[in-house]
Amino acid sequence: MAVEVKYDDKIFELFISKEEIEEIVVRIAKEVDAHYSDIADDIMLISILDGSFVFMADLVRQIEHQVEIQFVKLNSYDNMLSRGEVAHILKLQHSIEGKHVLVVEDIIDTGLTLEVFIEELQKHNPKSIKTCTLLSKPEIHNDIVSTDFVGREIGPEFVIGYGLDIDGRARQLPAIYRLKV
Ligand code: XMP
Ligand code: MG
Repeated sequence: MAVEVKYDDKIFELFISKEEIEEIVVRIAKEVDAHYSDIADDIMLISILDGSFVFMADLVRQIEHQVEIQFVKLNSYDNMLSRGEVAHILKLQHSIEGKHVLVVEDIIDTGLTLEVFIEELQKHNPKSIKTCTLLSKPEIHNDIVSTDFVGREIGPEFVIGYGLDIDGRARQLPAIYRLKV
């Protein structure tokens, strides 16, 4: 595992190793299984693309409860005209009415994406909505949105790898790197 990686003129240092990520994923999967243990229904996992695809792929293989999965792609809030107008570039493909939904995110920064998305999901009458994120930046979002399963809290730093990108690149890195300042 490289200790440093470079993208254009930016240097990123190893931050969360592949092994630590594996431990986090196993722990979250156990927490998810424990939470839904009294529920016979499948869990509907909804992963927000693009960043969550690696985490989602690893997480589903550690969860023992029966799950259904689907992916959505959202416009970032920067492009939103107003709250509630989070454009679903890739819409929900399967109904979530009466289902137990677990939203899977890679990272929560300001929390706005998740907040607006959850408001959207509530309109479809799911039985429950829980949220799961690999990384969370509490100093930035100040808990504006509640997250039920959190992999690891980090500072207000920019990170790449394991699905997270810099201009579409670096998603393939098996570990997480942070911008060196
Ligand atoms: P908000 O602010 O709505 O944004 O919580 C969440 C989305 O912003 C992206 N994001 C990042 N992507 N490194 C990245 O590669 C980061 O450090 C980072 N912080 C936020 C990400 O797409 C996330 O879903
Ligand atoms: Mg994302």
